[in-house]
Amino acid sequence: MRKYFIAGNWKMNPLSDPLPLLRELKVKLVGMNNIDLVVAPPFTALHQASELLRETPIIISAQHLFWEEKGAFTGEISASMLKVAGADYVIIGHSERRQYFSETDHSVNLRLKTALNNGLTPILCLGETEDERERGITFEVIERQFKGALSGCGESDLPGFIIAYEPVWAIGTGKTAQPADAQEVHEFLRRLLRDHYSSALADTTRIIYGGSVKPDNAAGLFKQVDIDGALVGGASLSAESFAQIAKASMELV
Ligand code: PGA
Repeated sequence: MRKYFIAGNWKMNPLSDPLPLLRELKVKLVGMNNIDLVVAPPFTALHQASELLRETPIIISAQHLFWEEKGAFTGEISASMLKVAGADYVIIGHSERRQYFSETDHSVNLRLKTALNNGLTPILCLGETEDERERGITFEVIERQFKGALSGCGESDLPGFIIAYEPVWAIGTGKTAQPADAQEVHEFLRRLLRDHYSSALADTTRIIYGGSVKPDNAAGLFKQVDIDGALVGGASLSAESFAQIAKASMELV
């Protein structure tokens, strides 16, 4: 059985001190050893987070990286800098990056390969917009993003990597995909893994769901056979609600 993977994407929050939230998470997530727990704070809090959570099973993720190692790239951050700051995972291809910062399938691919080459495990985000869903091209879009992101990646590069299906229309909107609709896309992604790689990779890769996951809808999503956890945005800014989401997965283990 695949281990549930519950990740909190803090985005550009909280505004001031991250320590209270980190401290509260440390207390509330204690003992949840049967699942993988990840927090992705902003760059400026990565080091503090990794120091504070050092003795806990909670793993640190960054939200973004650049593919060059160093040099004149104002405002960017490299994989080795993230490693030094304490990150083990990195979110790649989030729809907010695609939408506001002109990320393309090609740049997502470069970032993903850079993460893999530097020992950072990617959490690859993909998902359709509302318009694409209404036009009936969800699977086409997902397949294009999948192939684009993984172009040139061999199976041996990918053990442990995470796919996050995040329908863009469900992010931060309060509209969650119905569990059965999300399951359909997760099943499709697993089939893509099987067809492009192998049954072994398809069976072991965690495919998590993101988009308005809250304590009251988490269990319904986690009960779906191909949903292996969640990438949680808004609800991860409260230790209590993030812990409740994690607990909903623990109860199914
Ligand atoms: P949300 O964000 O839970 O606030 O919808 C999810 C995400 O963007 O990863």
